[in-house]
Amino acid sequence: MNILQINSSARREGSHSTQLADRIVGKLQDADPEARLTVRDLGATPHPGLDEATLGALFTPASQRTDAQSARVALDDALIAEIAAADVVVLGVPMYNFGVPAPLKNWIDAIARVGVTFRYTESGPEGLLKGKKIYVALARGGKYRNTPADTQVPYLSTVLAFLGMTDVHFVYAEGLSMGADAEREALATAFAEIEDAVAA
Ligand SMILES: Cc1cc2nc3c(=O)[nH]c(=O)nc-3n(C[C@H](O)[C@H](O)[C@H](O)COP(=O)(O)O)c2cc1C
Repeated sequence: MNILQINSSARREGSHSTQLADRIVGKLQDADPEARLTVRDLGATPHPGLDEATLGALFTPASQRTDAQSARVALDDALIAEIAAADVVVLGVPMYNFGVPAPLKNWIDAIARVGVTFRYTESGPEGLLKGKKIYVALARGGKYRNTPADTQVPYLSTVLAFLGMTDVHFVYAEGLSMGADAEREALATAFAEIEDAVAA
């Protein structure tokens, strides 16, 4: 089994979303000690976003790209290869201003490539990253689960499904900024959800 862990907190120390993602990965490794793990920390190594030069590179046929264009596309190719090889993907996702961290959005922009990770058919779009199990560890200062203010879950569900990843399990740690008791309770709840969600 190949596990791909994507951390997207800006924090290297004390990140709750990374802590939860680590716990999920730990349980997966307990169940399969032979599992291979790849960790990509988008906070430590942010992926470049889409700009005009990048779009120009992506839409230039490979044989006609300049060296700079080929190098830029290769950065995205590496992320696509990582997720294509993964059987299980674990995302650590803080809520920043009601959305996902910008580096995670850049990662999604990098892995969504027409003709490679999705395609359009006569019956509509088809995601090509199939057969994967996805865990998403959410960390929030407030409490937004199942409310319209939670834009993260609909967004991630939609874009992951668009790319073929429909087996997605969300784990929530909410209320982390609402005092020490609330933080303890949030983490305990999230760890219990992980116990239930990740088969031992
Ligand atoms: C820049 C910034 C923006 C934030 N925006 C929100 C928000 O919109 N809603 C919320 O509930 N918490 C918000 N928080 C709190 C974080 O979601 C919370 O601290 C979370 O634990 C951060 O993830 P991490 O522990 O993995 O770094 C924000 C925190 C930061 C630093």
